Amino acid sequence: MGKLSRRDMLKAGGTLGAIGALSVATPAQARVWTWSPSGSVAGTGAGADPRWVWDEEADPLVASLIDRGAVPEVNRLLRTWTKNGQPLPAGLPADLRDFMERARQLPPWADRGKLATAVEFNDKRGIYLGVLYGFASGMMSTVIPKEARAVYYSKGGADMKDRISKTAKLGYDIGSRKAYDADGEMIVTCVKTRLVHAAVRHLLPKSPHWQRAADEEIPISQADMMVTWHSLPTTVMKNLTAWRVPIPAHESAAFLHSWQLAAHLLGIKNEYIPASWQEADSQARQVLDPVLAPTPEGVKLADILLNLGAAIDAGILSKRVLGAFTRFLLGDQIAGWLKISRYPFWDGILNTLWEPFIAVREGTLKTFPGTENVYWLFDELLRKIVLVYLSEARPISIEIPLTNNPD
Ligand code: HEM
Repeated sequence: MGKLSRRDMLKAGGTLGAIGALSVATPAQARVWTWSPSGSVAGTGAGADPRWVWDEEADPLVASLIDRGAVPEVNRLLRTWTKNGQPLPAGLPADLRDFMERARQLPPWADRGKLATAVEFNDKRGIYLGVLYGFASGMMSTVIPKEARAVYYSKGGADMKDRISKTAKLGYDIGSRKAYDADGEMIVTCVKTRLVHAAVRHLLPKSPHWQRAADEEIPISQADMMVTWHSLPTTVMKNLTAWRVPIPAHESAAFLHSWQLAAHLLGIKNEYIPASWQEADSQARQVLDPVLAPTPEGVKLADILLNLGAAIDAGILSKRVLGAFTRFLLGDQIAGWLKISRYPFWDGILNTLWEPFIAVREGTLKTFPGTENVYWLFDELLRKIVLVYLSEARPISIEIPLTNNPD
């Protein structure tokens, strides 16, 4: 059966008909949206299926900036806009300026107390967070088909190292001490990323490569945004819990809060942003778990990520160690999809000794049951992964693209 576009589905007659048709074409996507806005930070909402909602403010604006040739000048001006509290540069088109002035505001539910606690949490857990954002979330994104295709066929797909640097910047900014303060950079990074996503929604549908591979007409819906969001904080918290890292409830709530604000600033509607971890987990079961699947594009992206470490340290960050770590973090099914081999030695010691290693680091266990060498290897693994994936966040400017990946 050929691919069904959104237009085909709507033509096929009514929402129920469309859902029925979709379930034949793409069973993983065919769920009816049942997650209630009462579990969101808004507490209320229309409950519209977020697969058919994009960014009604940013999308037409950025499309118009592209079509009227304003983007090169806008990018040039925005290079100087780096701090949350900094006024927007003079000379921006009036419609863009108006939008950005609104988009940069924190919502009324922002809680400075929680953000201060999030800073403490990030300070204490920085190394784990670096590894999990850079590696667990990064590898997870390669088995999110819509994201893998969008990344592969957009401009950034042509230079993955540069793209990783830009994405790592967001992980770095949210974890920095000043994140949402006037002299932090997280608000700027999110608002610029919102503009980039709007540009991708305008550009990618014109890519013949993406058209051939994709099962949709417009990328990056609100549902897709939440899927990727869950690949970040929800996945990170799931791993920290699995590693038995002791996290007080108020720190875990504060960490969630910093990501709720990120979601808001990235243009996700408040009615889709989960209000608690419980709601986040329930939404992830509905939007993330069922969509995970391999794609040729994702396998290639995963291979690039797995090879990135060897340039820094071909011993500890060899493809085999990072492959085993991926299997350990994301499980056999995902490792299989990504065509990652089994490495019995590494698979074995990660399964048996990682948890005690974390317990010793956390002071909840006195002596490490493995050898000193293994402890050292694990410690190096943590530090080097952070070095490769997070230190990629060198000063870099997130810019509105004008093209897709030509290949
Ligand atoms: C760009 C983060 C969701 C696809 C970016 C950038 C960041 C980012 C920081 C700027 C880096 C760059 O310009 O390369 C996020 C976060 C998300 C999210 C935090 C959700 C919470 C998504 C989703 C998709 C997607 C759902 C696709 C389905 C892209 C693409 C680019 C991009 C194609 C542009 C790369 C280019 O310039 O070619 N994203 N993203 N993102 N994102 Fe996202």
